[in-house]
This record gives sequence, C-alpha cells and structure tokens, in this order.
Amino acid sequence: MWKDWIRPFVRPLPQWSPVAIVPPSHAVTATLHWDGQSMDVTTDHTVASLNPLMIAISFDASEQVMLEYNDNATGKLLGLLRLSRTALIAIQDASVAIYHVEAGEHHCLAWPRRSWNTWLQNRSMLKNRASNHLNMAPLAAQQLMVAYLCPRPVVLVSVDAPGQQNIFPMDLIGPLKRSGLFSFALRSTNVSEPVMREVRRVVLSNVPAAMKGIVYKLSVHHKEPLQDWNALPFPIRPSKEFGIPAVVEALRIQELNIVHSQVIGLHTFFLGHVVSDEHWAEGAQLHHTAGFHQIYRQRQDMAFAEV
Ligand SMILES: Cc1cc2nc3c(=O)[nH]c(=O)nc-3n(C[C@H](O)[C@H](O)[C@H](O)COP(=O)(O)O)c2cc1C
Repeated sequence: MWKDWIRPFVRPLPQWSPVAIVPPSHAVTATLHWDGQSMDVTTDHTVASLNPLMIAISFDASEQVMLEYNDNATGKLLGLLRLSRTALIAIQDASVAIYHVEAGEHHCLAWPRRSWNTWLQNRSMLKNRASNHLNMAPLAAQQLMVAYLCPRPVVLVSVDAPGQQNIFPMDLIGPLKRSGLFSFALRSTNVSEPVMREVRRVVLSNVPAAMKGIVYKLSVHHKEPLQDWNALPFPIRPSKEFGIPAVVEALRIQELNIVHSQVIGLHTFFLGHVVSDEHWAEGAQLHHTAGFHQIYRQRQDMAFAEV
C-alpha cells in the first residue's frame, strides 16, 4: 500500500500515453501568437523533425512566434512553445514555415511536482541514452511532450512499389490546413523512405484504438520491409485510386500524392496532397498524448480512455 503512495514521488510519469479518442478531438486548442496577433492552428501545425525539434505551420507569421495549448473544457493554459522560423517551403501557391523549438513549458502539474517529474524523466532519459535511437536531448524531449498536448492520431502507412511493399505506424503526421497540404516526418533511416521519395504515393489507415498491440508490433517495419501482404494479422483491401493495400478495419483511409520531400535533421519531411478520403466507420482512434497531460485530465475527472 505504502508503495502506491510513494511511487509518484520516485518514478517519472510515462512520457507518452496511448489513448482512445473519437476524431476529431476537441480537447485542446493550439493558438499561434505573434506581434500582438493570434491565430488558431489546431489543425495547422505538425512536427517536421525530432532532432532538431522543428514544427511546421502553413502560415508565415513572424520570425519569433509562440504556440500555446489551451484545454477547451477549463480554458487552462496547458503549455507553450517558443519558436523561431528557420525556413520557408514554397509549393505551388502555398507556403509552409518551419520553426525551431527554442523553449517550452507545461502547466499540467503543479510545482514542485512539475520540476521533480522533469528531473526524474531527464535522469531516466540520460540513463537510457544508449538505447534511445533518436538521441534526443532531454530538453528537446520535454519540448516534444508539450507538442503532444494536442493528442496526435496514429496511422498505419502503406507503401507499395515494384520490389518493395511495407506498412508501419506513424504519428508525426497531420494536416497543414491553410495550405491544403498534409505532412509527415519519417526517420531518414526508415527502409521505405527512398521508395516513398521515388513512387511519391502512400496510403494512411486511421487505426481503431483496439488495434494498439498490432500497430506497435508493426514498428519493426520501420527497419525491414514487409515480405507478404497476406502475412498481416488483419484483413486488407486495395485503396480507392492507387490500389495500395489498406486496413479493412480502418476508421478512415486517405491516399496521398507526395509533392515535396526534404531532409531536416534525422528526418525526411514529406508534404502531400490528399487524393481520396474515405470515412469507413465512427469510433475511437489510437492517439498519443503527453503523460503529464493525461494526469492533468485525470485530476479534472475527464481523462482520455487509456488503451
Ligand atoms: C505508434 C508508433 C508511431 C511511430 N511514428 C513514427 C513517425 O511518425 N515517424 C518515424 O520516423 N518513426 C515513427 N515510429 C517509429 C519509431 O519511432 C522507431 O523509429 C522505430 O520503432 C524503430 O525503432 P528503433 O530504431 O529504436 O528500433 C513510430 C513507432 C510507433 C510504434
């Protein structure tokens, strides 16, 4: 019993919480602030790279901006990121600004637990540095957790080309609404990264939360291609236009034409146009949010369903 009491004081919170959310999530609003102006970017900001940590927004506001995350139910400021613009990508008549994360903070836990938990998490990251394939500095990992205050949906990405087929999970994805583009950040060492740059087509299956176990197992395909579509532990169907295998149980299936790719740090940042968008079912989709966000929501009696 005493162990349950003492645990929060000696163990860090999990960095990420896998949760079930019926899309679109209305839990958190992301607002961009600059030069006395502000704009809702809830569906217009994505992670462009983890190392260095970069955020993409399809609006060129200013060189220095602030991204704030507010809880829609309570109005509370959950966290913020300070960003500085490093690049502008122009695509046809749209543009996407890439911002470097300079600083970040969250307000999901009260002081002193907030500082203590940060210290415990950072200590654990430094201890496990050898197995941390992204080699993110603890400071950047803390800032990334703030970016996950807007829960990130998880999809399975299908790739199909002569000589290579694959399906693997991604959550560094999302729409950049004002531009009409959709972005995804993929580790450049991913075995399908060159294929995606070459064939410029992917299919995204929005997976139900109940598929979490299977989805996580498919992360082996970030390194090894899939040998046989028929070996997958779930049924598949050809996507509407491309005929690329997608998940039958998916809540939604989107086909994307890739129109741009560039290396940013350890990731390749892809931009695409949605060619087809089929809604197959209503239901809870697998999402990731920050562990401290879920704790905040538990305290408010409005926790996301855990999976
Ligand atoms: C649910 C889930 C989502 C993931 N999303 C991404 C992603 O968006 N981009 C990416 O490059 N890798 C993504 N990964 C892959 C992992 O971060 C990691 O690179 C992969 O599992 C290989 O890990 P390892 O190099 O430590 O073995 C995801 C993995 C999982 C399980």
